[in-house]
Amino acid sequence: MAAKFITVEGIEGVGKSTNLTWLQQILDRRGIPYIMTREPGGTALGEILRGVLLDHRNTEMASDTELLLMFAARAQHLAQVIKPALEAGTWVVCDRFTDATYAYQGGGRGIARSRIASLEQWVQADLRPDLTLLLDAPVEIGLSRAAGRNQGADRFEREKAAFFDKVRTSYLQMAAAEAQRYRVIDASQPLDTVQAQLTATMDAFLGDRS
Ligand SMILES: Nc1ncnc2c1ncn2[C@@H]1O[C@H](COP(=O)(O)OP(=O)(O)OP(=O)(O)O)[C@@H](O)[C@H]1O
Ligand SMILES: [Mg+2]
Repeated sequence: MAAKFITVEGIEGVGKSTNLTWLQQILDRRGIPYIMTREPGGTALGEILRGVLLDHRNTEMASDTELLLMFAARAQHLAQVIKPALEAGTWVVCDRFTDATYAYQGGGRGIARSRIASLEQWVQADLRPDLTLLLDAPVEIGLSRAAGRNQGADRFEREKAAFFDKVRTSYLQMAAAEAQRYRVIDASQPLDTVQAQLTATMDAFLGDRS
């Protein structure tokens, strides 16, 4: 089996980072070589751009600036980390990727899908995730979990519930439109139930690969 590119998506606080640890154990048990990374970020330069994107003091940032910074970080991440790993046969598991751009900058900010698609084509050519795990939960659940973490809210977390409703809707639309790539996991459930769904999903995806 060629190295796979797996992305984990969902609104703030649904449990992406928490469940990446579980996914890590699933891949470890099967002896699959992988790296775990995240967006925006995943490289030294990308993490600087992440800081700019999340800094709540950057209140003046225009939506196009936000979009282009996301793709600037992504271009670096692809060149420096993702493509070399996949070419070397190492699987890549990424906490958010381009679908987050469609959901946040597209659905949330209202930038036309076609603009995002042209940047996607430019930066990624034909590279797309093989599997996207969408952790889905109502906005109130995600936001209350994120608030419970007790770090100051970042620039996105300061958005209103209506913004996240648009982001969630956009994710669910992509999942419906690309059912072969997407798996939707009900993240509103207790953690052990979410983990059981993730295990079943990964068992089905991986088949009898040892
Ligand atoms: N199924 C669950 N039930 C209850 N609490 C959960 C569940 N999953 C995660 N949590 C808790 O919710 C909080 C947010 O989880 P986590 O940081 O994994 O979310 P995230 O999706 O990575 O958020 P962000 O988008 O902000 O990075 C954490 O405190 C975590 O322990
Ligand atoms: Mg996280």
